[in-house]
Amino acid sequence: MMDSTLPAASPREEVTPGIGVFDSGVGGLTVLRALRSALPDAPLHYVADSGHAPYGPKSTEAIVARCLAIGEHLITHGAALIVVACNTATAHAVAALRARWPALPIVGIEPGIKPAVQATRNGRVAVMATQATVNSERYRQLIATHGGVVHVHSQACPGLVDRIETGNLEDQRLQDLLKTYTDAVKASGADTVLLGCTHYPFIQARIERLLGPEVTVLNTEGAVARQALKRWSELGLPSVQPASVRLESTGDPAPLARLATLALQSPQTARQVDI
Ligand code: DGL
Repeated sequence: MMDSTLPAASPREEVTPGIGVFDSGVGGLTVLRALRSALPDAPLHYVADSGHAPYGPKSTEAIVARCLAIGEHLITHGAALIVVACNTATAHAVAALRARWPALPIVGIEPGIKPAVQATRNGRVAVMATQATVNSERYRQLIATHGGVVHVHSQACPGLVDRIETGNLEDQRLQDLLKTYTDAVKASGADTVLLGCTHYPFIQARIERLLGPEVTVLNTEGAVARQALKRWSELGLPSVQPASVRLESTGDPAPLARLATLALQSPQTARQVDI
């Protein structure tokens, strides 16, 4: 059934229904990787809003405006399901996206406070996330709902997204900044650390090394892919082989192509778009 709230595809473009995925930048590629392995038959269209990253220091209004513009772009190009592959965008804008397109399935990503609380052995959990996620009402509610008696240390990590956005994961400034934040997390005494930003799994091995073997590091990308698989199956769309991956960036597409090649373990190209 045609939904009149959804923008129509341009008449000249043939669209195959697929999954639209977006993040403030390259971080959501860690979700794209999980989606590709859970849904090998679904066309994927990824937008990195690198021209406007990071979202962390932005106001709710600014984040909502970017998310609505990207949502419109993805739907126009065939998205039958949208995955918001950004904790910050989910915290500030998923409600606005759902209000704008009530008939469209939209899957967001949030710090997995519940599994982290279940996993801790010493009653102390730390969350590494952006300042905007940590400041958000949704995050406060997640802790109020699932935190229980567990102590949750919230570690905002300003600057990490900017460094990962360059695509140079070996950069010494990234290493130094990371050490500052992991030292603070260590000082909190947490034995379970949650990565509450989709950029951070790119440097998860390094975070694990800095925190040491006593600390368990969790991320939420797999859970999001399972939820997307469920919502995609409900749509009953035919599988497509080979399933395409379309990569677009509102900034420099080179880091996106480089990190997508790393994330998907096959050569990828990306193009620049104006949204
Ligand atoms: N990957 C985004 C997230 O998960 C980063 C947000 C930002 O650009 O600050 O929160």
